[in-house]
Amino acid sequence: MAKQQLALLGGEPAVGPDIQFITWPAITQADRDLVLASLDQDKHAYGPHVRMLEEEFAVWNGNKFCMATNSGTAALHLCIAACGIGAGDEVITTALSWTSSASSIIHHSAIPVFVDVDWTSMHMDPAKIEAAISERSKAILVVHYWGVSCDMDPILDIARRHGLAVIEDACQAHGATYKGRKVGTLGNVAAFSLNQNKNLCGGEGGLFVSNDEQCFNLGRRVTAFSDMRPAHAGRDYDDYGLGWMYRTSDLPAAFALSQLRKLDDTNAQARENWQHLCDLLEGTENLTPAFSTDERPTNGYAYVWRVDPAYAKKRGIPLRLMTKGIVTALGAEGVPMSIANWLLPAHAVFQAKNAFGGGAPWTYARPEISYDVAQFPVAQDCVDTCLWNINTHRPPNGPQQVEALAAAVRKVFENLGNVPIPEE
Ligand SMILES: Cc1ncc(COP(=O)(O)O)c(C=O)c1O
Repeated sequence: MAKQQLALLGGEPAVGPDIQFITWPAITQADRDLVLASLDQDKHAYGPHVRMLEEEFAVWNGNKFCMATNSGTAALHLCIAACGIGAGDEVITTALSWTSSASSIIHHSAIPVFVDVDWTSMHMDPAKIEAAISERSKAILVVHYWGVSCDMDPILDIARRHGLAVIEDACQAHGATYKGRKVGTLGNVAAFSLNQNKNLCGGEGGLFVSNDEQCFNLGRRVTAFSDMRPAHAGRDYDDYGLGWMYRTSDLPAAFALSQLRKLDDTNAQARENWQHLCDLLEGTENLTPAFSTDERPTNGYAYVWRVDPAYAKKRGIPLRLMTKGIVTALGAEGVPMSIANWLLPAHAVFQAKNAFGGGAPWTYARPEISYDVAQFPVAQDCVDTCLWNINTHRPPNGPQQVEALAAAVRKVFENLGNVPIPEE
């Protein structure tokens, strides 16, 4: 009985003291050896492990060109530069993502134009893209959110018909595939993140990839200071254009390289745990399970639950408060979950349309563009009903942790009527 009662209301937590969720990633002797090998040589800036990481990732992912950066955000910015996008140009992207999918566009003084998402996948809805295209549009930036590929065929078709580049934000999606092809090989350029939370971890870092040499070189030019020298110029320390400092250094690259060498295994284990969790939760009332299909299988990055909006609406509870209540109840059961705040147009920088001061970059071209969130009702419902975790199902967590996790989630969803709803 005490086990059935919510822990928040005095019951016994579903996750007992014998279960420990292990934080990603597991560190092995192979990681230690490679990181020490980096330390024991003498090129600590853009050193040999950076080059090995670039070469091995390019082979692993099926890309001709790869450049390691100090973040996924930097790699995304290189993607924007690589596509020849400039001040006042427009880039179409999803309303629901991590902030960098849109801030990378602003970093090159271009204007993000948001598109609402499809409820099932939470990805940019291909049926809504054409309405967002204008004569200033230069690219579509897709986000393979939650480690699952976007529905690429219709997107590539729209891009082809309108002469737009396709940029893949694959920061969460190492190893995800679309109809058997790896993400990062589907558009013109792509960015991956090596941040700790990602399937491929280097602590922090990123990878900029392409199969198009011209695009790759355009992106690479802004990587380190401003190496935009005309062919005749030597190393004269002049600045021929604006450059950033996005290179990575040897130590994090060695860590990422070691993780890359076991990525097929860790991805397979994450996917296995993901599927086990999915099977255990099947049929849980009022819970919308995470999305993955045979054509677009997950890489196991995240398990993302959603509360059925119809349930909260029927009870007259604001969706977000319902979700907050569930997160608190799950926390008391011993399951750390988070709610999302990723409706990008709602963020203050877009509401104020002021990134660099003085209204830039919108003053270049689109001061009147509307970021009214009412245009993105599906993305709004997604963020308001979404709870997620990335650490509880990744290896070395296994069946024991996954089963405890599923039991806690089922318990809370079976007791939804008793979950205390927080104040606004
Ligand atoms: C979808 C998406 N894009 C871009 C990024 C940015 O990556 P980084 O944190 O390495 O800059 C992230 C990281 O969280 C992400 O999830």
